[in-house]
Formats: sequence, structure tokens, C-alpha cells
Amino acid sequence: MSMQITTTASTNPASAERVASILADPGFGNFFTDHMFTVEWTSAHGWHGARIEPYGPLSLDPATAVLHYAQEIFEGMKAYRHPDGSIWSFRPEENAGRMVRSSRRLALPELPVEDFVQAVDALVDIDQRWVPDSTGGEKSLYLRPFMFASEAFLGVRPSQHVTFMVIASPAGAYFKGGVRPVTLWLTEEYTRAGRGGMGAAKTGGNYASSLVAQQQATANGCDQVVFLDGQEGRHIEELGGMNLYFVYADGHIVTPATGTILEGITRASILELAGKMGHQVEERRISIDEWRQGVLDGAITEIFACGTAAVVTPVGALRWDGGEVPAASDSGDVTMAIRNALVDVQFGRAEDTFGWMHRIV
Ligand code: PLP
Ligand code: COI
Repeated sequence: MSMQITTTASTNPASAERVASILADPGFGNFFTDHMFTVEWTSAHGWHGARIEPYGPLSLDPATAVLHYAQEIFEGMKAYRHPDGSIWSFRPEENAGRMVRSSRRLALPELPVEDFVQAVDALVDIDQRWVPDSTGGEKSLYLRPFMFASEAFLGVRPSQHVTFMVIASPAGAYFKGGVRPVTLWLTEEYTRAGRGGMGAAKTGGNYASSLVAQQQATANGCDQVVFLDGQEGRHIEELGGMNLYFVYADGHIVTPATGTILEGITRASILELAGKMGHQVEERRISIDEWRQGVLDGAITEIFACGTAAVVTPVGALRWDGGEVPAASDSGDVTMAIRNALVDVQFGRAEDTFGWMHRIV
């Protein structure tokens, strides 16, 4: 059964000129569309009150649980405009499924997959003029579904009032300067996840805990931080907001195995896509020594990062306190071939043989 969504259209939407000027250079996460979606949950009534309203600030009681105990989860996905003007999302049921898994870890209620997809579709539909034209570029409408503990209560227990929302933000390249190799900072001091922790959930706390490491990365002239496993401090996990892939000289590609990392939908899609492109793909543990040695002796020829926001981004040098491994290669042929194969499906320039795309408009 689908949700009944009440719609209150904005009486003060952005002018066509303003939308056009934002879409010309949206950056990432700076601007928001005219509307937002909300549905609430209580232990007594389940999910109810689904609505689309004009985008605007929330009014929260200072005792709202999420502000104190961070019981919150989110998703990140995109809507793409195809050359014929139609609008599509990429594997939305995967984001919905991951949100269900995150909600289990954070003791939040489960939002049914079909309600999640319906909510996202409804917001994109009403704000469809905010989905950039993709001609010549790779702009899209970034979608941010999120769920938080909205009960005003200071006791430490799962919130009895929960709010799920979707907001949307036109997006260009996540990294300034478009597709260029990003330099990485290896943190030996901080970890992002431990055994039994929240590493596999998309929850705000993981990002809060990454910020100080990211500050060190920035202070050392790097774009992103690399986290190692929390137990041995030896195995590569992921970046603050992206998964990693290693390309070997014989063409096979490796991505760190999961358990404590966020299982990216881009990562999973590349496993399938690269397999189809003839690469042998492996999910396994990979140590920081293998990275250092592999680049130095030529066994590793390319490294790339991947995620919804960053798409597929070549990795340059890896630095740490007192050392550096140079970029694996400067050609990045495999990285760019995988990147192009993925974005061509997302933007409707190549046949969607996997059935990944979901039509919204
Ligand atoms: N790892 C982290 C920590 C992330 O925040 C993201 C971004 O969502 C990813 C990996 C990549 O996930 P996805 O490909 O689903 O966007
Ligand atoms: C995404 O790629 O959707 C993310 O959530 C990453 C975030 C750092 C913007």
C-alpha cells in the first residue's frame, strides 16, 4: 500500500532566473530546492502524516533526543536527467535497504523500502525543474533522505517519536576542480569503526568522528582521510565519505572487504560493472603495507575512490606523518573507463543492462 502524501506547494518558489544561476554552478550541498518531504513515526501510530511542504527551517524542542544522543541515520543518492528530459534515480531500493539496515543498528523504526522510494520520487517530481540538464557535464540533483530521534526526552533509550525527511540539492563535482587525483592523508591516530560499532551504518556520528582526522588531512594539504581498521591498525577501510578500489597490473581489482565499512552502492555497482568489463574483482582485506609496496614495485597501477557524491575519483599520493607513497600511475585508464561506464548508465548515455535505473519523471 502506498503512502498518502499531502502536498502544500510553495507560494514563494525560487525564480526561474535564480534556479538557472544555481544550476550553472551548484557546487555540492550549497542550495536546496523549493520543497521537502516529511513523515513521522510514533510507537503508538507507526508512520503517519506524510507530506510535502515548502522547504524551510524546523522548530525543535531543545530536549529533542537527536541533539543529545545522535540517534540519526541518512542516505545519499542522486537524480539524473537523461538526454530526452526524463529523470531517473540509481538503484533507489538499495539506498532504502541500507537505511533499513542502518535503522536496525541505531534502534530506529524501519521505513518500508517502497515508502522510501515513493518519498524520494514525490520530492523529485515536485522539484523536477531543479534537476540539472546533464549536457556536457555531470550535474545531478543530490538527494538526502534522513531519519532522526525527534522525541523531546533526555532519558537514554530509543526515541518514541521519529521523523524521516528528504531534501534535495543540485550538485556538481564534489571535489573542487572536477575530476582530478585527490591526495589522501593516512590517519594513524584515529579510527572510524570498531568491532560491534556503527561503521557499517550511515549515521551522523561516523562523520562527526571523522572530522578531526579530516582537519589533519586538510592541514597537511590532503583532500581526504584514509582510515585503517580499529583492531590492528593495518588494514585499509575507507575514506571519510568514500570507498576505495585498487587496480593491479594484471587487470584485477580489489576493494576492502566489508564488516566495519559503509557498504557503498557505487562500490557494489563497480563490482558488477568491472566484472562485466572483464576485470577479475575481489573483496578482501588489504593492508597498508600492500598499498605502499604495491605502488612502489608496480603491482598496483591505479587507485580510486568511489561514492555517490564523489562518483569515481582517481587517488593521487598517500601521505602520513613522516612519509608518502606517490600516486600509483598518472594515466588512470582503468579508473576512467569504469567511471565513464558508470556515469554513462546513470545519465542515460549507455544501455542499462543491469536494470539499475528507476524512472521518476
Ligand atoms: N563510505 C562512506 C563513509 C560514505 O559516506 C559513502 C557515501 O555515501 C560511501 C562509502 C559510498 O557509498 P555510496 O556509494 O552508497 O554513496
Ligand atoms: C554520499 O556520497 O552520498 C555521501 O554521503 C558522502 C558525503 C561525504 C557527502
